[in-house]
Amino acid sequence: MVLNPARLDSWAREIIVDPLAKGPLIEDRSNNRYLSPYGRQYPITNGVLDLRLLNNHTTPDQTRWSRGQSEYEEWSRSLIAGDHLKNYQSEIEQVREVYADMPVVGKCLDVGGHQGRLRQFLSAGQPYISCDPFIDVFADLEKQPNLLEAFPFLAEPVNFVCCDAEFLPFQSVAFDTVHMRSVIDHLLSPELALNEAYRVLGGGGGANRGSMGQREAGNARSPRCEVSRQGDAGAGRGQAIRGSSCVASYVCGTHSPHSRMRV
Ligand SMILES: C[S@@+](CC[C@H](N)C(=O)[O-])C[C@H]1O[C@@H](n2cnc3c(N)ncnc32)[C@H](O)[C@@H]1O
Repeated sequence: MVLNPARLDSWAREIIVDPLAKGPLIEDRSNNRYLSPYGRQYPITNGVLDLRLLNNHTTPDQTRWSRGQSEYEEWSRSLIAGDHLKNYQSEIEQVREVYADMPVVGKCLDVGGHQGRLRQFLSAGQPYISCDPFIDVFADLEKQPNLLEAFPFLAEPVNFVCCDAEFLPFQSVAFDTVHMRSVIDHLLSPELALNEAYRVLGGGGGANRGSMGQREAGNARSPRCEVSRQGDAGAGRGQAIRGSSCVASYVCGTHSPHSRMRV
């Protein structure tokens, strides 16, 4: 049996927009694709909506990103043959304490969320979408019995969209949490991606809270993304967890105390 757990619930469909124009897309069911009003076409490939825009080599940076992403995907595929239960268990244990301290709240967008392993630490039924440019990320799940034993929910459908952090295909202020774990160092443009994360973060609307990065009064739609460390303890723990990963946990400019961004 081939497992392909990508799906899109109706609430997730409703907040999807064109990743560039941020306007609505038109579903073209007969041709298995989505269309933008200005003529761009987005295919659905093996059940996955492909909204990627980083698909050319116009600049050296783009070439470098594409090459890095291809190498990452190749490395990921090379792990399929290994399928070591102990590695997966240690992956879970290494971050358990972080999510116990800082539970993921509300509607969550997991940017660079891979197969959605974060579900390990979500509540039952918590609204969640993983988005990632790795379109084949669910390939050969059925060949990894130990992976499925460690993360049984991987066999269950998950909201998944193939896209880039720099061009998020979601309406503004649509999520309570934007989670980015071990992703920043993979991006073509961390600055664009953080601005996009800020854009899609929402919440109660209005109130800025003291300890977090804030929007300036009278400048509520500023594209500026103020990112501030949530606390030394969190950051230090994150660094320990992820070894060379540079960042652990940030809080982004927010509308409500529950709008958080984890990096
Ligand atoms: C080291 S993995 C981390 C996966 C997951 N967040 C986790 O912690 O298990 C990095 C992920 O970033 C994704 N990625 C790379 N470039 C990206 C981009 N421009 N936008 C979004 N995700 C990206 C990769 O495909 C990969 O799934």
